[in-house]
Formats: sequence, C-alpha cells, structure tokens
Amino acid sequence: MSWNGIIDHYRDLLPISSKTPIVSLNEGNTPLIFSQDLTKTIGLDVYLKYEGLNPTGSFKDRGMTMAISKAKEKGATIVMCASTGNTSASAAAYAARSGSLRCIVLIPEGNIALGKLAQAMIHQAKVIAVRGNFDEALTLVKEITKKYPVELVNSINPFRIEGQKTAAFEICDVLGDAPEFHAIPVGNAGNITAYWKGYKEYQESGRSKRLPKMLGFQAAGAAPIVLGRVVEKPETIATAIRIGNPASWKAAVAARDESGGLIDSITDEDIIAAYKILAQGSGVFVEPASAASVAGIIQLSKNRYFQSHQRKKIVCTLTGHGLKDPNTAIKNVAQPLTVDADMKSVLREIGF
Ligand code: F0G
Repeated sequence: MSWNGIIDHYRDLLPISSKTPIVSLNEGNTPLIFSQDLTKTIGLDVYLKYEGLNPTGSFKDRGMTMAISKAKEKGATIVMCASTGNTSASAAAYAARSGSLRCIVLIPEGNIALGKLAQAMIHQAKVIAVRGNFDEALTLVKEITKKYPVELVNSINPFRIEGQKTAAFEICDVLGDAPEFHAIPVGNAGNITAYWKGYKEYQESGRSKRLPKMLGFQAAGAAPIVLGRVVEKPETIATAIRIGNPASWKAAVAARDESGGLIDSITDEDIIAAYKILAQGSGVFVEPASAASVAGIIQLSKNRYFQSHQRKKIVCTLTGHGLKDPNTAIKNVAQPLTVDADMKSVLREIGF
C-alpha cells in the first residue's frame, strides 16, 4: 500500500473536509526503531521514533501539512512563523509545495543551525533574522498576523497540533497499544501537547487502551516550565529548544499532570553525551535538541525512576535529523586525519 501522508492516512481523526486542498510531501510513517543499546542501559524496552526522516527532516512536517492545507482552504496568500529553524524549513517547503502561498520567517540572528537556514532559503521563503531570541520573534509574528492578512503557522495554530498528534497514532499502530512512557524534548511545548492529545484521542476511539506517562525534557539553560518562570535569556547548545517562554506552556503542564509524568531539565553536557550515544550505539544521527529525550531518560534511569518498570516500553521522540546541524557534530568528535596517498601511511592509521 502506498503512503500518501498523514492527512490521507488519518483523515477520519483530523479536521479535514472534502473541500480541503491537501498540501502534502507524504510526511509521516516514520520508523519506530528498537534500540538494543539503550534497552540495555535503561532496563526498559526503548523505541526511537525517528522523526528526522520526515521530508524536511523534522516532525514539523506533520503539523505543516495541516496548517498549510487549511491556510490554502481559507484562501490565505501569505503564511508566517517565528522559528528556531525547523518550523521555518518546513513552512518554506510546504508553502513552495502549495504552489500559491508566500512564506515569511523570523529567525533569531546567529542561533539557527546551518541546514535549517539553507532549507528556508532554497525554498524561497523571505528570511528575516531579528536581533533577538525566538520568544521576541514569536511576539512580533503574533502581532503582525493579528493585524495583517497573514496566516500564522507556529504551533499556536491549532491545525499544527492536529497534524502532529498523528505521531502518537503511528506509535500505537506499530506497538499495538501506547507505550508505558513517552519521552520528548520540550521547546515551545507544541509537540508534547500534540502527542498527549493523540494518545488520548486514540484511546477514546478504542484504538488503544493505555495512556503513557509523558516525560518532557528542557535544556537546563532554557527550562522555564521546570523553573516555573519565564527565562529572559535562554541559552543552550540545542538551539532548536532555546526558548524561554513557551507558547503551549499550560497545555504541556496539563499533559504532564494528567499523564502522571514529569518535565525535567538536562544539561548541555548530557545532551551532547546522549547525542553521541545515539549516533555511536544505535546508529541514529539526530540534532542536539532531539537527544534531549534520550539524555532525559538516562538521567531518570540513574535516579532509579524506572526501577519498578523493567521490560515495559518507552518511546523517545527524536525530533530532527542530525544533518540539520553538521557544525555541532563536527565540533564534538575527533577530526579526520590526513595522510599521504600511499598504502603504508593508510595501513599505519588503521593499525595494521
Ligand atoms: N526538537 C526540535 C528539533 C525542534 O525543532 C523543536 C522545536 C523541538 C524539539 C521542540 O518542540 O517546540 O513543539 O516543544 N522547534 C521550533 C522551531 C520551536 O521553530 O523549529 P516544541
């Protein structure tokens, strides 16, 4: 059976009508990869939902196919978002795909990964770098889209959440039920909101029985929900989640509390360690923010949080592809050596 994207596949659970022009890049249907390596470390069966394999390399595509289709249905001509990079890459691609929408993106100057910037540019979005952070950019976008005929496609747009909830559906479809735990990075807090909505709706519709405990993870330098206050100057190596005042703050707290889960913080050091563990132990290359979910469960495991849950299932969302941010990868590993082009020199390096 061919896969034609999340709207086509989950149409009956999405606010779509026969009049909605579907703008899709066949997003979704991403692999759920069992990690032997992490299963050994954590003691639970660990599955990785590799969202970096969406068309633009992040989970944003699930939300964007909905947001752009609905914007087109409404007759919009311009869409706009603030972004730490992935939303802008996805919005730019889907706007191009729509054949009619112009796309404008505001990014925090100097704080988005190279691959994401390249994506927004090649898809011909109007890219505006602001001398400020994501939160300031989002405030501007909210004001502009309120006053001008421009459609906002950040995750405060409810259609984004609708699309993103389909990742939870896919997990239940593959595992036969929801896992006991779900770990996820938290930035603007749209995705944890979307997964929780998805798990609840699947259970209500009788397609799954269990509800997972939602485990959200923020970077220590950008952890407003953990601290219970806005962080004016968020800082983290995981630029995708460098956010001090998440738009879906309340919904994330509700997901945490209703599910009996938690939202915790992890240091940049632990994020980078998990980033390498994923690449080197599981063969999965993600961007730093995505490693937050794995860093989080390693930390919880060390604190014996999972002690009475041996052999239960945990899914970690890996939100974006490692190729988005090649600079961070290269900076954190040994550099390749250059040798003369002769057999002896090469063999010596291999250790023969
Ligand atoms: N991981 C990655 C790779 C992201 O790009 C983001 C968010 C998150 C996690 C956090 O998800 O915001 O729903 O809690 N990136 C947004 C952007 C903010 O502009 O691309 P969230």
